Amino acid sequence: MGKHEYTRSYQDSSQHAQGNHFFVISDASVIAKLKELVQSAFAAMELREDLYKSLKNSITLSRKGNYSFCYNAPVLIVVACQKEYGNNMADVACAVENMMLAANELDLGSCYINQLKWLNEDPTLQEYLRSLGLKESERVYASVAIGYADTESGLPNRAETPRTGNEVVFV
Ligand SMILES: Cc1cc2nc3c(=O)[nH]c(=O)nc-3n(C[C@H](O)[C@H](O)[C@H](O)COP(=O)(O)O)c2cc1C
Repeated sequence: MGKHEYTRSYQDSSQHAQGNHFFVISDASVIAKLKELVQSAFAAMELREDLYKSLKNSITLSRKGNYSFCYNAPVLIVVACQKEYGNNMADVACAVENMMLAANELDLGSCYINQLKWLNEDPTLQEYLRSLGLKESERVYASVAIGYADTESGLPNRAETPRTGNEVVFV
């Protein structure tokens, strides 16, 4: 893919709403503060058996005090959108996927990070995100951690994993 095509892809949004608000965070102290706030919020949550597995994992690790929701990556791109807009999460997810494809093309590792979305009504976290520029009408719907892959070659793992799900019906 050429550079131009990526530029176009970043702009994909329902009805050209283009309401995604990107926070490209490379300041280590900001990532550390987010990590601290995320850990405190999860540590205070009730750990119930019926919770989504990944959320249970976030709570368990946070209680132990060693939870890095973004894997200590040097860059975290947080994507917010209007709270009252019906396609907020879809527009944000499209942008994140496009950024992950672009990162891979640049030989960088990336990971979709849901934790800030799960905590997007947490008042302490919201207040901090506001200090970074999040508007009152916006919420965070996803983020993506970007860095060099922790592999022998330093390249992202491009091995195909066996497919176990995703039902497809051809009609
Ligand atoms: C929508 C979405 C949300 C994800 N959220 C997280 C997350 O919060 N933390 C994390 O470490 N990985 C997250 N991931 C990464 C997945 O766990 C990872 O890509 C996994 O390998 C996907 O497995 P699959 O390709 O078999 O579906 C997320 C991936 C997607 C697509």
